[in-house]
Amino acid sequence: MCGIIGYISNEDGGNGRDDEHGGGERADGGPTGGGRALPVLVDGLRNLEYRGYDSAGVALVEDDAVAVHKQQGVIDDLALPDAHPATCGVGHTRWSTHGKPTDANAHPHTDCTGDVAVVHNGIIENYDHLRAELEAAGHAFSSETDTEVVPHLLEAELAARREAATDGGRVDEDGDAGGAESAADGDGEPVDDVGPYRTASTSGGFGDVDVVAAVEAVVDRLEGSYAVAVTVAGREELVVARQDSPLVLGLGDGANFVASDVTAFVEHTREVAYLEDGDVARVTGDAVDVRHDGAWVERDRKTVDWEAEAAEKGGYDHYMLKEIYEQPGALRQTLSGRIDEVAGDVDLDVDLPADVLADVEEIQLVACGTSYHAGLYARRLLEEFADVRVTVEVASEYEFTGGRDPWETLVVAVTQSGETADTLSAMRKAAKAGARTLAVTNTVGSTAAREADDALYIRAGPEIGVAATKTFAAQVTALSLLTVHVGRRRGALSSERASHLLENLRGLPGAVQQLLDASDRLQAVASEYVDEDAYFFVGRQLGSAVALEGALKLKEIAYVHAEGFPSGELKHGTLALVTEDTPVLTVLTEGARPKETLNNVKEVESRGAPVIGFSSYDAAANYLDVEIPIPDLGVLEPLVANVGLQLFAYHVANELGRAIDKPRNLAKSVTVE
Ligand code: F6R
Repeated sequence: MCGIIGYISNEDGGNGRDDEHGGGERADGGPTGGGRALPVLVDGLRNLEYRGYDSAGVALVEDDAVAVHKQQGVIDDLALPDAHPATCGVGHTRWSTHGKPTDANAHPHTDCTGDVAVVHNGIIENYDHLRAELEAAGHAFSSETDTEVVPHLLEAELAARREAATDGGRVDEDGDAGGAESAADGDGEPVDDVGPYRTASTSGGFGDVDVVAAVEAVVDRLEGSYAVAVTVAGREELVVARQDSPLVLGLGDGANFVASDVTAFVEHTREVAYLEDGDVARVTGDAVDVRHDGAWVERDRKTVDWEAEAAEKGGYDHYMLKEIYEQPGALRQTLSGRIDEVAGDVDLDVDLPADVLADVEEIQLVACGTSYHAGLYARRLLEEFADVRVTVEVASEYEFTGGRDPWETLVVAVTQSGETADTLSAMRKAAKAGARTLAVTNTVGSTAAREADDALYIRAGPEIGVAATKTFAAQVTALSLLTVHVGRRRGALSSERASHLLENLRGLPGAVQQLLDASDRLQAVASEYVDEDAYFFVGRQLGSAVALEGALKLKEIAYVHAEGFPSGELKHGTLALVTEDTPVLTVLTEGARPKETLNNVKEVESRGAPVIGFSSYDAAANYLDVEIPIPDLGVLEPLVANVGLQLFAYHVANELGRAIDKPRNLAKSVTVE
């Protein structure tokens, strides 16, 4: 997840361009609607930093160029001029998905001529195909990102339209055909290195070419999700487009804004219009014009009443709740471009070829806390669908022992941060022994990603709340994709069976949304059962992994005693603690042996314990005090049930007035062993 901001003002607006530092100052210190772009973009990026923070950049429109300043690091590290006269520009804060966090991979990205600058949020699934086509046509790329295809496609489109408008005639000084050729020197290299500062226009300008029409033609070629904002040298306009990635317009007085969310500009205007999928809009200082399917359309104007801090949390009271609600979008990103339904296979961007996997006798999953629970879930999937022996170990307990052959062992470190000391230490022990390592992580460029032989990114976007929520769901989802990859390459999984699992994965975001829609119910259940003596979470198989996770969530944010374990274990001890003041939360779904679990439910029910069931098993209804229905989704049903457990934990903690986003004694990233 990245953050986008665009700003454009009338040159005469507000305090105008004569103010030396750009951007007029209000009496209260904030910039006015009119004025220079740079300070507004920088403020907006600071407000968006929670969406991603590994690199940042801005593009400022000049008469015959676009000045780009971008680099790895946080906004405050960005080397910027003290002032810049531009009244139009875009900015971006990045959370890497394609390519490491480096200066070259930071946005904005430019075309060969330096006239077009683009910022992008989302994933362009067909970028490798587009890039190959553009490179064959002479375009020189400067980054490893998927985004960079957009400015190059736009360059070609604008050049073609300019040529058509001039009746095939040449309009640039050297008589080049425009497009890629005009952008490169004799060696086909870009005219200027991409660095922190770049102004290298060689196109001769794109004249009066209709940028909106050109952007429409370009986004027509993109597959995947995107919110893009485009600037073109010499043009006082921003052109933006969205598909499955948020984009909102901020409507000011003599100035307008565009951003990934209102946080970016809420201090300037609360008047907004949300773009819809398929929209392309032209934004100037005076006007906002939206096109959809080739026709001009109106989008409703709304007034937001959030304060800046609330806006950062998207109007939610806590980051944790926001992140719970972000799960459908996060999971779509995890899956994006990786499923090949026709072949019943996946495309994972990891170098684990069939001959390597054929030699693997055992997969060892190493992780801590919530990531360990994701590992427990994945173990069942790998064993069932990839027919491989799997062990899951708490990373702090891990040793590479037991007569294992390192050449026949794949060690998978599951760590959302990629920086957990215990997990890194386990991974290093495995690597030292000679085993092949794979990091499954949310953080491109993290230590785990750099040190492992391969990295599989879960693409959940940054998680601010200390309690892991969306990253757990994304870990299990990414590990499910890995299961298909391993199963197919080892010849253990038929394409029909793989297709069925992939179909369930496709249905996962929608099923999670169904649980989120039941949040009010879970809030009421939490109110009813707050303040109990203890809470037990039970299930079997995949359900027991989720039971452990549900208990951990409640413990860490509500500070109440909770225990999770396989339901069959109740009768071996814990049943002695079960009373009418100990609610038992139970996973009764496919993949969790609901029939056997129900027998254990009967044991606790007969001792008066309230039973809250997350269930797709009709026969259970009579034994449950509360039934939360789980939609049919095969082996992913327990993962959907987990969203209900997250909401239960959140609402209990909220009722108890806990510091939900920063629970006592805990840190987001545990970098000590
Ligand atoms: C619990 C939680 C922790 C982490 C654990 C591992 O909500 O967040 O249990 O899961 O510290 O962290 P990563 O995944 O960053 O290695």
